[in-house]
Amino acid sequence: MSHHIAVIGGDGIGPEVVQVALDVVRAAGVSLDAADYDLGGSRYLRTGEVLPDSVLDELRDFDAILLGAVGTPEVPPGVIERGLLLRLRFELDLYVNLRPFRCGPGRHNDGVDFLVVRENTEGAYAGEGGFLRRGTPLEVATQGSVNTRTGVERCIRYAFGLARSRDRRHVTLVHKTNVLTFAGDLWQRAFDDVALEHPEIATAYHHVDAACIYLVQDPGRYDVIVTDNLFGDILTDLGGAVAGGVGRAASANLNPSRSGPSLFEPVHGSAPDIAGTGTADPRAAIMSAVMMLEFLGESEPASRIRKALAESDDVAGSTSEVGEAIAGRI
Ligand code: IPM
Ligand code: MN
Repeated sequence: MSHHIAVIGGDGIGPEVVQVALDVVRAAGVSLDAADYDLGGSRYLRTGEVLPDSVLDELRDFDAILLGAVGTPEVPPGVIERGLLLRLRFELDLYVNLRPFRCGPGRHNDGVDFLVVRENTEGAYAGEGGFLRRGTPLEVATQGSVNTRTGVERCIRYAFGLARSRDRRHVTLVHKTNVLTFAGDLWQRAFDDVALEHPEIATAYHHVDAACIYLVQDPGRYDVIVTDNLFGDILTDLGGAVAGGVGRAASANLNPSRSGPSLFEPVHGSAPDIAGTGTADPRAAIMSAVMMLEFLGESEPASRIRKALAESDDVAGSTSEVGEAIAGRI
């Protein structure tokens, strides 16, 4: 059976790392029927289009979407991020952004193995807010955080479900309940309610500022972290930095109800400064493709790629050399 995959290479190093990820997946014997979509900053600069409705509708019919990175320095901030990436997350109801962090033996922070479940459709990303008197000395800008009980609870439920399948069975809620007393209260109550249904799972709560210290000083303490969209964005860059660099950080934007495709992408951006040099680390993209295979039920080839990745942990070299080393070990 062949999986029907939409590939959005995007900008900068995006197409380079995605190509290597696809090569590795094929080296593992998985048959992919991949359709390329030209979307991102360079398409926008050429045509003025970010994500036409007709393209969005086509994307709904795929089994999964693999994305490299989008964004170019020439495009003002927000155009591609909101118009393409966030629009896909919202329209496809990709409500969990799952980001695993793991350090193999012999690496800095050896033994670290935690997952961040980042709420992916609400919070400060929802776009609530606006300007008053913009451009005048008396201007006002507000930007609210939207937290629905349904949206928060389904994400927390996902985190507990994940923790059940792991050895340590531990979930930490990260928020800022001492200051964000409305949103934080809703998150805490939803968390406590779901925790009551899971007596087999241990829980903790950390304020986000404290969690930043723990992530640097003692990342091994975490198993599953669940948090809101903006805290999750920031914590997962930090997670990448403490767990081997952002070139290794993968993510899955999941629609767990499977009413449409899920989207898999590295945590890193398009890195225009190194685009075309062939030096980007393809590991984050390869691991994102592994998460895609797992979500598609291809757990056997996925685990072979995982093993090859782990065995190639110390391989240095160009984007294609690292890819070939991993493909060669499968
Ligand atoms: C990420 C990125 C995006 C985000 C940007 C590009 C909109 O930083 O996936 O973490 O903030 O979610
Ligand atoms: Mn980010």
